Order: sequence, then structure tokens, then C-alpha cells
Amino acid sequence: MKQSKFFIILTAIFLFLISSCAPKPTKKVPIEFEAGQKYFHRVCANCHGVDALGKNTKAPGLIDPEYLPENFSDEEFYQQIVEGSKKMPSQRNKVSDPEIKEIIKYLRYSQKIADLVVEEDDPENDDEE
Ligand code: HEC
Repeated sequence: MKQSKFFIILTAIFLFLISSCAPKPTKKVPIEFEAGQKYFHRVCANCHGVDALGKNTKAPGLIDPEYLPENFSDEEFYQQIVEGSKKMPSQRNKVSDPEIKEIIKYLRYSQKIADLVVEEDDPENDDEE
């Protein structure tokens, strides 16, 4: 009897490991961003990483100062998704326009809460470099 219990636990661990391979969000977001989070993880996370963090993934993380609104506009996001680039295939047939809007909304929210260190002429940041 003890052995079968052990087997069940082993199976549970195995299933957990398999399921954790799929890109699943690790963060709980407010309800209005959940749709975008879902679309992002369906379409983009394979390359850009879970939560768009892109660590050790084939595409850059998007929660990065480089992609904040002042450096990378919503329009540029839209174009990148629809047209793709040399290294990124167009995602046109994977997402609809309303879905893209949700994805961008979700990414902007994630950037906002990520506490990114932005390089500015702020003297208080000087000793952090
Ligand atoms: C098949 C892999 C793949 C998928 C899927 C993918 N990307 Fe990319 N993405 C890339 C790669 C690779 C780059 C780097 C492109 C380059 O350097 O030219 C990139 C670059 C980008 C950039 C930066 C462009 C720039 O000019 O710096 C943005 C923004 C972006 N992707 C958004 C998305 C979004 C949003 C999705 C989902 C709708 C998505 N990507 C899906 C591979 C992917």
C-alpha cells in the first residue's frame, strides 16, 4: 500500500514538471489585463519568455527600459507583431487586432509594475551605477 502512494506522488511530480514546461504566466494580474496576458502566453511567450521577461530565450525580454512607451511606442509594437522583422516571423495569422491591443495593454501594465531602472539625469541614481 505504501508503494502505491509513493507512485501517486511520483506521478504528480512528473505531471507538474511536464506542465511547467509550457510558458505559463507566473504573475497574477488585475482582471482587465488577464486577456492580454493569456494571448501573450499563447502567442509570444515561446520566444519572449514567461511574463515577457525573456531571460535565456531566443527573443529579447520586453519588460525592459528599451521597450518603455517613450522608447518603443504602441504603434511600433503593433507593427512588429503584424509585420515581424528579420528574426521575428509576423504573427499576423496568430492574433487579431483586438487581441494585439490587449497584449500591448498587458505589456504596458507589466512594464509599469516592474520597477525598471531607467537611466536618467537623476543625481540620486548616481551612486547605483
Ligand atoms: C518565433 C519567435 C517569436 C514570436 C512567436 C514572437 N517574437 Fe517578438 N521577437 C522575436 C525575435 C527573435 C526578436 C528579435 C528581432 C530582431 O532582433 O530583429 C523579436 C523582437 C520583438 C520586439 C522588439 C523589436 C525591436 O525593434 O526591438 C518586440 C516588441 C516583439 N518582438 C514583440 C512580440 C510580441 C508582442 C509577440 C506576440 C504577439 C512576439 N513578439 C512574438 C521572436 C518572436
